[in-house]
Amino acid sequence: MIIFVYINYFFFKLILVRMLDKNSAIGVFDSGIGGLSVLKQFIRFLPSENYIYLGDTARVPYGNKSKQIVEAYAKESAEFLISKGVKIIIIACNTVSALALDSIRSISNDIDVIGMIDPAAEASLRASRNGKIGIIGTRATIGSNAYINQINNISSENSNIKVFSKACPMFVPIVEEGMIRHDATKLIAEEYLSEFRNHKIDTLVLGCTHYPLLSHLINEVLPNVTLIDSGEHAAVYALRVLAEKRLLIEPNLQFIEKPKIDFYVTDSATNFYEQAHNFLGFKIDKPQIIKLGKD
Ligand code: DGL
Repeated sequence: MIIFVYINYFFFKLILVRMLDKNSAIGVFDSGIGGLSVLKQFIRFLPSENYIYLGDTARVPYGNKSKQIVEAYAKESAEFLISKGVKIIIIACNTVSALALDSIRSISNDIDVIGMIDPAAEASLRASRNGKIGIIGTRATIGSNAYINQINNISSENSNIKVFSKACPMFVPIVEEGMIRHDATKLIAEEYLSEFRNHKIDTLVLGCTHYPLLSHLINEVLPNVTLIDSGEHAAVYALRVLAEKRLLIEPNLQFIEKPKIDFYVTDSATNFYEQAHNFLGFKIDKPQIIKLGKD
């Protein structure tokens, strides 16, 4: 009887997996604009794919909100992407990845959900030579200990790994104000990051969508430290998952001028549209404004 139920379940799963179409879009969502730094990495590694990007610009930032609120908001974003028929969901927001990955997985059925934490945690362990790893992120991400827990989970017990973490909340508005090369930003970076010099870390996880835009400055404050871009490692991870599930669009050898991306936001698109270029490196089509939940 048990075997019979198991076999049925197996075939049921198989049928569901088969129903996913490789030509469907990759769904990416974030609290706002920052997830475009993650989308940029996906386009780099998966240039032939179609994308749907949703930024919850009406309710950004998430980085100082509670788990309960972040879970509720994130579920609505994921439901929107599911309604659009995406073949995989990428949680570009580190805060959502840290606080709400399980909730999103609980509503996604057969659709794989990839967050930022696991791929970056693995990459940091691969990159570190001395076992001293730093993590930076929003208050919510750092407060959740998601990165530390994951690094401890996957490193062997006697590996002597030491993880140091620090919330750097000011980095988000600084990037959104376009102050990435400002003298004041250098001072703030020094204030936030100098303690990592004392800890002698050799690897630092950029655990927030906005931080890759400050890589040059972070490397000035912490020279000789390997920076882990969570979006980059999530893209490589997603590539593997899609290939295993036979859901990858074969790379087109022709030059792709502009990938196909539909953009959605939850509030007035002006800033998003104008700033997108800074995160993505190219001009985007105007995003559509949608309504999520009861807002
Ligand atoms: N996207 C968020 C993250 O990666 C940063 C912006 C916010 O606080 O919503 O954690």
